[in-house]
Amino acid sequence: MGDREPSTYIIGRRDLILVTGATGFIGSKLVENLLDRGFSNLRCFLRPSSNSKRLEAVARRHHGAHVEVVTGNLLSRDDCQAATKDARVIFHLAAGTGEKSFPDAFMNSVVTTRNLLESCLRRQSLRRFVNISSFAVLATRGSRDGGSSMRRARSRSIQSSGAKLIASRRLGKSRSLPSTV
Ligand SMILES: NC(=O)c1ccc[n+]([C@@H]2O[C@H](COP(=O)([O-])OP(=O)(O)OC[C@H]3O[C@@H](n4cnc5c(N)ncnc54)[C@H](OP(=O)(O)O)[C@@H]3O)[C@@H](O)[C@H]2O)c1
Repeated sequence: MGDREPSTYIIGRRDLILVTGATGFIGSKLVENLLDRGFSNLRCFLRPSSNSKRLEAVARRHHGAHVEVVTGNLLSRDDCQAATKDARVIFHLAAGTGEKSFPDAFMNSVVTTRNLLESCLRRQSLRRFVNISSFAVLATRGSRDGGSSMRRARSRSIQSSGAKLIASRRLGKSRSLPSTV
């Protein structure tokens, strides 16, 4: 991508990009990829318990870039407000894995996504909300209530996919928001 002109992007390289789930499996790769592409103003949102060492190492390798680490929890509306301030693009990767239970997946995928979306609705500066979902949600599409059969499911992947599906539906209702799933 390095040889593409900045004009092909919807934002400039110094515009603020928020990445949630920045310490996760995909999030940490995304942060590195954005920096490699010359985007130099990133805000990485982490939970206080997250291990940020890998992220800090990535930031050190990109001199001159501004990588702001913000700690909080997307379950907090105030934290979402602070995280989304001035963001031009948001990559939303934070998600509950469903490892513990369906309520865990629901809280950390659906409630968190709702909070983040609500905080974005008043943000005039936002150009794109990118919600990272999963092909696995297609397997759970048949459920009309979007959750009860998943709630009974024991499989971790079905639980987390069900929660992601509900989260994506919420995004679909936020029609005023420029978004990509
Ligand atoms: N990995 C795959 O192969 C794959 C495939 C398809 C789709 N996806 C989707 O891609 C996204 C990212 O996946 P991943 O594998 O990178 O996930 P991951 O490694 O499990 O990372 C999830 C991230 O979400 C954060 N998080 C969870 N609850 C949060 C909360 N309440 N507030 C703030 N942060 C919270 C976690 O923070 P902590 O460090 O504090 O736990 C972690 O950094 C998910 O939506 C997933 O469904 C992944």
